[in-house]
Amino acid sequence: MNAAGDAFDPLAPTNEVQHAQLGELRRSCPISQTPGGTWYLARHADVVAASRDVDRIESAFLAPDDADIDTQFLPFISEPEHGKVRRVINAAIATHRLSRIDAPLRSLCNELLGGLLDAGEGDIGEHYIAPIPAAGIGYLLGLPDDHQPRFIEWAHGLFGGSVLGDAESARRSRHAMREISAYLDAEIASRAESDDPPDDFITRLVNTEVAGIRLSPIACRTQLIFLLVAGTETTRNLLANAMLRLATAPDLYQRLRREPEAIGPFIEESLRVDPPLTYLLRQCKVPVQIGGVDFDQGTDVAFGLAAANRDEAVFEHPDDFDVDRSNVRSHLAFGDGPHVCPGAALARLEARIAIEVLLDRVATITLSESFRYQKTPVPFTNGPVSVPVRITRT
Ligand code: HEM
Repeated sequence: MNAAGDAFDPLAPTNEVQHAQLGELRRSCPISQTPGGTWYLARHADVVAASRDVDRIESAFLAPDDADIDTQFLPFISEPEHGKVRRVINAAIATHRLSRIDAPLRSLCNELLGGLLDAGEGDIGEHYIAPIPAAGIGYLLGLPDDHQPRFIEWAHGLFGGSVLGDAESARRSRHAMREISAYLDAEIASRAESDDPPDDFITRLVNTEVAGIRLSPIACRTQLIFLLVAGTETTRNLLANAMLRLATAPDLYQRLRREPEAIGPFIEESLRVDPPLTYLLRQCKVPVQIGGVDFDQGTDVAFGLAAANRDEAVFEHPDDFDVDRSNVRSHLAFGDGPHVCPGAALARLEARIAIEVLLDRVATITLSESFRYQKTPVPFTNGPVSVPVRITRT
């Protein structure tokens, strides 16, 4: 281990993830200090161990001790409170309920793709995939169809303001936050007061009690808003990366059309090779050892998801996109440990539906000549801003 004296900074904003340099770092200096002082973990095993050590390594954006946990987003709540809130959310988001979103989301995907098919070309990022993640969460929550467009707009406003520093994004985010808060408060209150509330996620969140813990209406609203913030841009980037891959790998595209059983592994391999979040920021709450290195209390640590996902100790030929690898689900795109993404099953389902509809109706997909790779502006996110394609009907 040595303080990285070289020029490479794994946390510096770049237009593309620097996989070659991350690989170099993983092999030569897997626990390194960035010029900004944060320590970067590049190995799969270190990221897994540190992710599970939540009593000693916490989110770098943790709420102060006296903060009201009702108004804190889930990742920023300390243990043991985090575990209690998380159990209620896990119980309410149980995977077997997700099948309900299949039909409405499939029908939305067909409608969106129909427009693009008529045109024959366009940005598949904007015209097909952008509305899918927020719509999926809207269907999960149980919102009626005519509320969906506003909900999708709020989701985009909220995320932009929470990560882009400019004044216009911040204004849109405040506006979205006011509107969605009022909307969700009314939805929560109506379910809490009803003798026969609809059987949906909001009702379950309001009524679920785990080990004597029930979320207050404000805590329900806070966590519902966070689902949107956490689940929209991430899933959008998963889909944008997957679309870019398919538009540049015609043999793979035709294989997925012939072998639907390869779609699941394709989604996992896409998450591994192109993770929508490239790193997570944490802080050591007490002195702690990670991968044989001692860290003082207060040290900032980054979990290098993009580097860990290509760790040759876990994945053979890690730079190859290989849907047939035996451990295709061993990636860390959804994190690990007690904070592991509770929306992973929903994200996987949304991706599967969007890809199945595409494969069903599109015979060929190719990138337009106008394509220039431009990564989303948020430093820790990873996906192309646009994916202009030409498509032909089946
Ligand atoms: C491809 C899409 C997605 C990716 C790559 C992703 C990735 C992640 C990662 C890496 C974490 C761990 C963060 C940490 O440890 O600090 C996380 C947490 C979280 N995700 Fe996701 N996510 C995705 C989709 C979703 C969706 C669809 C939802 C909601 C429906 C969601 C809700 C959450 C929540 C609430 C947390 C916080 C969990 C906690 O702190 O206990 N995510 N996600």
